[in-house]
Amino acid sequence: MLKHPVRVFGHRGAKGYLAENTLESIEKALSFQVDGIEIDVHVCATGELVVFHDFTLDRMTNGVGEVGKHSLEELKKLRVNGGFQIPTLEDVLKRINKECIINIELKGKNTASRTSEIVEAYIRNHGWTYKDFIISSFQQVELEKTFQINKNIPLAVLTKASVAEAITFAKTIKSKIIHPNFALLSTDNVKFAQSQGYQINAWTVNDADTISRMKTYGVDGIISDVPDKI
Ligand code: G3P
Ligand code: CA
Repeated sequence: MLKHPVRVFGHRGAKGYLAENTLESIEKALSFQVDGIEIDVHVCATGELVVFHDFTLDRMTNGVGEVGKHSLEELKKLRVNGGFQIPTLEDVLKRINKECIINIELKGKNTASRTSEIVEAYIRNHGWTYKDFIISSFQQVELEKTFQINKNIPLAVLTKASVAEAITFAKTIKSKIIHPNFALLSTDNVKFAQSQGYQINAWTVNDADTISRMKTYGVDGIISDVPDKI
């Protein structure tokens, strides 16, 4: 059940308030009654999916080097800025517990297969439905792999280049959701995409003027660091 006429997605949880992609940031987003929460995933060296944006640990933690070269045990020992811990995708699913949609961005390479397995497991064993998930990526290969593994998971094509090109690719994977950078949008291309059956969720929209402009364009959803401002 959606809570707002324009869907509100917390970006990396509520990145504007607490360290991105942590359980605390997700908790903050949930406190704002969001319709969805966007997070990023990578596969770590021991095969688990961890929720983290960057390919390297340096900016956001007291560790260094590539996320994908560390075991889960090593990653769990690190401190995210502010004293938090890197969660796994399953930690995040347990916390969200169907309170809102989860938008999983396949950020790292080879994330499609393990993500699809976890989505299936949560649908089979924990009462989630396909409507509770959106899997997005800039990486066409990861979206294609997800589509080959399971044709029921809602897929979103991320773009910072062109809405028209994103739609062309979306057709090949039966995706009906486009996630464009807000700067690509206009009333005309939003209306055109919607007339073709696509939902448009714009990112990352934080200031009042841009929020208002996106609403004027008629977007379906807004992904924001400050979801309470939408
Ligand atoms: O999913 C929208 C947005 O998160 C894409 O860019 O760099 O914040 O992952 P980025
Ligand atoms: Ca992201």
